[in-house]
Amino acid sequence: MIKNICCIGAGYVGGPTMAVIAQKCPHIKVTVVDLNQDRIDAWNDESLENLPIYEPGLDEVVKEARGRNLFFSTEVDKAIDEAEMIFISVNTPTKTYGVGKGMAADLKYIELCARQIARVAKTDKIVVEKSTLPVRTAQAIKDILDHTGNGVNFQILSNPEFLAEGTAMEDLFAPDRVLIGGDITPEGEKAIKQLFDIYSNWVPKDKILTTNVWSSELSKLTANAFLAQRVSSINAMSELCEKTGADVNEVARAIGMDSRIGSKFLKASVGFGGSCFQKDILNLVYIAQSYGLKEVADYWEQVIIMNDHQKRRFAKNIISTLYNTVSGKKIAFLGWAFKKDTNDTRESAAIYVADDLISERALVSVFDPKVEKKQIFFDLNYLESRTNEENELYMKVENSPYDAIKDSHAIAVLTEWDEFKNYDWKKIYDSMLKPAFVFDGRNLLNKKELEEIGFVYQTIGS
Ligand code: NAD
Ligand code: UGA
Repeated sequence: MIKNICCIGAGYVGGPTMAVIAQKCPHIKVTVVDLNQDRIDAWNDESLENLPIYEPGLDEVVKEARGRNLFFSTEVDKAIDEAEMIFISVNTPTKTYGVGKGMAADLKYIELCARQIARVAKTDKIVVEKSTLPVRTAQAIKDILDHTGNGVNFQILSNPEFLAEGTAMEDLFAPDRVLIGGDITPEGEKAIKQLFDIYSNWVPKDKILTTNVWSSELSKLTANAFLAQRVSSINAMSELCEKTGADVNEVARAIGMDSRIGSKFLKASVGFGGSCFQKDILNLVYIAQSYGLKEVADYWEQVIIMNDHQKRRFAKNIISTLYNTVSGKKIAFLGWAFKKDTNDTRESAAIYVADDLISERALVSVFDPKVEKKQIFFDLNYLESRTNEENELYMKVENSPYDAIKDSHAIAVLTEWDEFKNYDWKKIYDSMLKPAFVFDGRNLLNKKELEEIGFVYQTIGS
């Protein structure tokens, strides 16, 4: 039985997944390691208020397990040496250089982990791919690990993570399924069983699926592609609804009641964001292209093309509605995170909408309940559309929604934070220039209430 686990990567996946394993398996010592000292310090923060990730319910779990059998550290070698099972949960961003630039997954961090494990390990290890990886990556990891020449045996498992941010704890406590891929050999099956036994401490056995490694790796990319495709499909319909007088919410309800289609993940929006959908689909497109499967690649690429269009057309609509110019006009953003209940902003639609509006010289004023000012500027500056100094002239970040909105021409809702619904909308209306516009990129607010107050209210897909 496994008694000692190490996880390399203390990010959005490594932190919460290991916290839950530690909580549910008090007999296992779990050490989460990272190169980033600030991140580890934040995980070890006494007060629990400064954990590096905001995720509802996470602080409770960390409080219970930390110091008992859950540890956060930068001593990577020591943790690798002591562990029987090592999860790799590092980032796998889109490549920004060389062959496959802008599409393929950058596996440099994964390879570094494999080489570090190869260098340090003195006893047999099970290495678990937790990061999302291109199909057949396990072969590359295996090649590196099998050439150490020190007699250590490695088993590689694929155990992709399906949690969504904002609901990570619920998803980890009661997953729809846990997927474990491994070699179809006696040693591979033994390794699969050891990981199976860890999850079965709290996940019903019939929800733990085992497959070969390649099916497991490819299932993760497929799941994200299907999910993102649903959002792009409903967003495509939202534009048609706007032209025809149909209402996308009504269409979504009508099709969602068909049990073959299902009602979840059919919310039209300003476009999907997050660190994974775009990166994983681009990766899938790249893999298909590299096997010469042009039609397959083109089919999935369309999901991204539609999403870029949706973000862009939201900004364009604001400009055309505000009498074709936003130059010098204050536009308040409610929300910057890519979805509610997270402080993660990676690939958030808000970044691209702000960039488009600032290119038209709008003055963007942002409020998000969980995202820090430093992060918001980092995201905009990262696009390199203009100098950082210019971005500071055109964008402000406020600590209160009322300050962000005061004297603005329009409000754009970019994230569906629940608290936005409960604001004093009459007070907000009184503080704005007239006509006072609301562009609701999340179909979040109450149209009737806002129109009665006097707002000109526009939303996606109706
Ligand atoms: P993240 O960027 O939040 O965390 C990754 C961490 O790994 C960073 O803290 C980084 O410092 C650390 N790291 C990188 N190389 C290292 C090394 N050699 N040694 C030690 N630490 C190292 O990333 P994330 O969002 O947790 O995603 C991790 C993986 O999980 C990705 O492959 C992603 O596609 C996948 N995934 C993410 C989510 C999600 O909701 N974010 C969900 C499912 C799967
Ligand atoms: C997604 C998947 O849901 C997870 O299963 C997966 O593990 C994860 O990616 C990953 O691999 O990283 P996440 O990106 O955290 O999770 O959040 P989602 O709830 O999937 O939302 C993604 C984006 O789509 C958000 O911007 C969200 O606002 C948008 N969305 C989602 C819509 O616009 N409409 C919907 O109906 C659903």
